[in-house]
Amino acid sequence: MSAQSKIKRIGVPDIRARKGGEPLVCLTAYDAPMARLLDPHCDVLLVGDSLGMVVHGMDTTIGVTLDMMILHGRAVMRAAKQALVVIDLPFGTYESSPQQAFESASRALMETGAQAVKIESGTYAGETVRFLAERGVPVMGHVGLRPQAALSEGGFKAKGRSQAERDRVLAEARAADEAGAFAIVIEGVAEDLAREITAQVKAPTIGIGASAACDGQILVTQDMLGLFDWSPKFVKRYADLQALVDTAVEGYAKDVRARAFPGDAQTYAMKPSDG
Ligand code: KIV
Repeated sequence: MSAQSKIKRIGVPDIRARKGGEPLVCLTAYDAPMARLLDPHCDVLLVGDSLGMVVHGMDTTIGVTLDMMILHGRAVMRAAKQALVVIDLPFGTYESSPQQAFESASRALMETGAQAVKIESGTYAGETVRFLAERGVPVMGHVGLRPQAALSEGGFKAKGRSQAERDRVLAEARAADEAGAFAIVIEGVAEDLAREITAQVKAPTIGIGASAACDGQILVTQDMLGLFDWSPKFVKRYADLQALVDTAVEGYAKDVRARAFPGDAQTYAMKPSDG
């Protein structure tokens, strides 16, 4: 048995068992090199449809297709050895019926080898979550700010400011929980609402812009690494990758313009005698 095959991958029951326990460490991953770096530190790697914006430069996640998710999911699965890998089902691939959701989810799982899917679960989605869960598809719910609703809501807006909105977000979380979601992402809500949801649902909650009152946290990796000029206000930057890349590329450009060989001249430069 190889050393690698001895590493035990975190499973859905392990995540469920973390309710109220050690907080879940989760990040997004879209490609193999980054997944390799993140994997040893994370419980969950989410191949989020945010890849449309982060990797492909789109304005929203609406244009992301299932084929894109599968391509990126396969790349992440080649590198992630111990974290649970979850694939987002993108807009238009699960909302029309539970059957449509099952077809998309089964493709995502079978073609990537990932262990679970995530859907942005409005109150209508309880039936879909149950349909999937009963057929062996582990589902992560996503309530509160739902980025796939950006067109109808006119952007990415925090949720739970009015009582009606609070009630709706709570109902979304309860619907996903009662239908069998193994974990629920809560995005863009105030601390008291995140705390109330976390207390009311059996599934562990994973917050993004939703305070520390959740069972775990997730961020978009590139946001927390400081790769962009802009990131949501709540994101703590743990590095300034933009500055590092800038300095490195500036140094490279300087060498090239000065005709300095950008490598180890002894080892790699072709000599006339090489023929
Ligand atoms: O698409 C995504 O990356 C997400 C997370 C930010 C929760 O849904």
